[in-house]
Amino acid sequence: MNEPLLWTTGLSKRFGGLRAVNDVAIRLAQGQIHAVLGPNGAGKSTLINLLSGDMAATSGTVLYKACDITRASADRRARLGIGRSYQKTNIFPAFSAMENCRLAAQSRAPRILHWFSDALADAPTCAAAERALHDAGLADCGTQPASALSHGEQRQLEIAMVLATRPDVLLLDEPLAGMGAEEASRMVDLLRRLRDHHAILLVEHDMDAVFALADVITVMVNGQVLESGPPEQIRASTAVREAYLGSEVA
Ligand SMILES: Nc1ncnc2c1ncn2[C@@H]1O[C@H](COP(=O)(O)OP(=O)(O)OP(=O)(O)O)[C@@H](O)[C@H]1O
Ligand SMILES: [Mg+2]
Repeated sequence: MNEPLLWTTGLSKRFGGLRAVNDVAIRLAQGQIHAVLGPNGAGKSTLINLLSGDMAATSGTVLYKACDITRASADRRARLGIGRSYQKTNIFPAFSAMENCRLAAQSRAPRILHWFSDALADAPTCAAAERALHDAGLADCGTQPASALSHGEQRQLEIAMVLATRPDVLLLDEPLAGMGAEEASRMVDLLRRLRDHHAILLVEHDMDAVFALADVITVMVNGQVLESGPPEQIRASTAVREAYLGSEVA
């Protein structure tokens, strides 16, 4: 297996008496899509929040490029190269697609440069934004207001906004949610293209997409890892079938 870029040991998050994430060990490697499956409330989004720094862990460790980042803020993790998208669409509707990406790109610029943010309607930020739009398949939509894009394009824009921060790791929370078949297949192609240059954690309920894309699958139930391994192992697992997949995977 490739060297992991981001990994955890004993990662846990409690909300009062609820163990939303319980003793999770997960490894994300460059060039791999690691899908996380599980029923509603299994702890998938909470796991992403713990990796991105949006939430602090109750216990356990998060390591990135061999550094302990368990206590690092979300801002710092983003600047180190950990990018994430959200389960709910999270764009500025009145701004153009390009402006959305420029704002995202700027968030990775060193703090001091934020003072010159007008001047930063400029080279590195614009180049990163333009490239991200292109890589996400939205090169022709740059000037359109985000609100005028289709649902599928808005989800692509969210990926573009993450790419504009030039991340090594992509944490993607249900990027295919609410998509029709054609939009979903475009997103699957996009994720496949992104795999080469990133370590990707993909939370997704669309089983066809997951089994088409994933190199490794981790199944979570009640905050815990039920099983983790290559897709064929997950497909063959009786425990996974009983707890989650049921008849979804023939
Ligand atoms: N901020 C919070 N405060 C209290 N409880 C929370 C909080 N966030 C999540 N939870 C609870 O933690 C558990 C895991 O939630 P989480 O959102 O991680 O699940 P999920 O696997 O992403 O589910 P879904 O597939 O529906 O998105 C749920 O019981 C949820 O109600
Ligand atoms: Mg969720």
